[in-house]
Amino acid sequence: MFTSIVAKRAFSTATKQKSTKVTVLGAAGGIGQPLSLLLKRNSQVNHLSVYDIVNAPGVAADLSHINTNAVRNPLGAPPMGESFDLPARSLSVTGHGPENNGLETALEGSDIVVIPAGIPRKPDMTRDDLFSTNASIVRDLATAIAKYALQLKHSPKAHVLIISNPVNSTVPIVAEVLKLHGVFDPKRLFGVTSLDVIRASRFVSELKDTDGSKTKITVVGGHSGVTIVPLLSQSSHSFTEDEIKALTHRIQFGGDEVVKAKNGTGSATLSMAFAGAKFANALISAASGKKTVTEPTYVQSPLFADEGIEFFASNVDLGPNGVEKIHGLGELSPYEESLIAAAIPELRDNIEKGKKFVA
Ligand code: NAD
Ligand code: LMR
Repeated sequence: MFTSIVAKRAFSTATKQKSTKVTVLGAAGGIGQPLSLLLKRNSQVNHLSVYDIVNAPGVAADLSHINTNAVRNPLGAPPMGESFDLPARSLSVTGHGPENNGLETALEGSDIVVIPAGIPRKPDMTRDDLFSTNASIVRDLATAIAKYALQLKHSPKAHVLIISNPVNSTVPIVAEVLKLHGVFDPKRLFGVTSLDVIRASRFVSELKDTDGSKTKITVVGGHSGVTIVPLLSQSSHSFTEDEIKALTHRIQFGGDEVVKAKNGTGSATLSMAFAGAKFANALISAASGKKTVTEPTYVQSPLFADEGIEFFASNVDLGPNGVEKIHGLGELSPYEESLIAAAIPELRDNIEKGKKFVA
């Protein structure tokens, strides 16, 4: 009798409490540090692996003193069919630089790899101006992910989350690199566009005096200027035409507000870390069996495939294997139709540019 209860508990633990290794590439940067801090708060992250070309061991040492708990199987045994490769909770944060095959060690066995590596904008730059520097950084990191995180001898199932700009192009770059290595799974590659939705709900809540954390606004398209398309007509709030135009502009160019205010020292880091952690945590919840986890993200999508658009951001249901369902756009106002029409050509160029870079 007792044995069968223990066995049942062991089974439910195995399905619900998954141990998760999250690797952050670019972890010592403006986004990487607060993002790693927020991920350290997730008790399902058993191993936080931080990699950067500078200062990663310091960031890891700092994080490792935080006394948040990492959930282990409470029965003391590894989940059925798995073994823990981490000897102790105190070793659950590791820091890696490029020396001594650090990138390989950082990536091995990762369940989630988040990439905020790359330079940020200065005032008067577009995100596309970052392409010349960030495209090769992202391509090289994607090559390492293909070799060290996705080959069968390691964990073939890592989810890859791209923060580095220009997201509209860096996601296609990663897809092309993973295809070249035969390890591309479109359900597991995500451009992180959560910040657009977080901004949208915040700006609307400011205007309507509501709780921003409960104010749901759908934002679709891509992650730059006119490719960011808020669907305000689908919100439970009503807006005047002027409010819609002003809000749409602010959501599309919210990143510029921060870049201008930071006056040459970078772009959004803290709000982006919040957004990146929200998305990674959602993925971890979905992987451990939580039902109906819906998040906005830029993924390989059928929504505008007939117009030659391979990647598109929309609400997506997440499950243990990544993308489960891509939501359609729903009913659009004529103004939103015109925003989509303006977004499509730029998105197409951005995607093409990323794909050509790898080819
Ligand atoms: P940052 O300069 O503060 O940090 C970037 C980090 O990347 C640095 O620590 C740097 O050493 C590291 N790095 C550079 N090359 C690397 C490599 N080959 N391998 C590993 N690490 C490497 O910049 P930030 O403010 O953190 O921004 C990072 C990127 O995120 C930028 O491209 C920015 O535009 C983008 N961003 C995206 C969003 C979004 O919504 N998706 C929001 C904000 C910023
Ligand atoms: C943002 O939206 O804040 C980021 O994409 C950074 C930027 O360059 O604006």
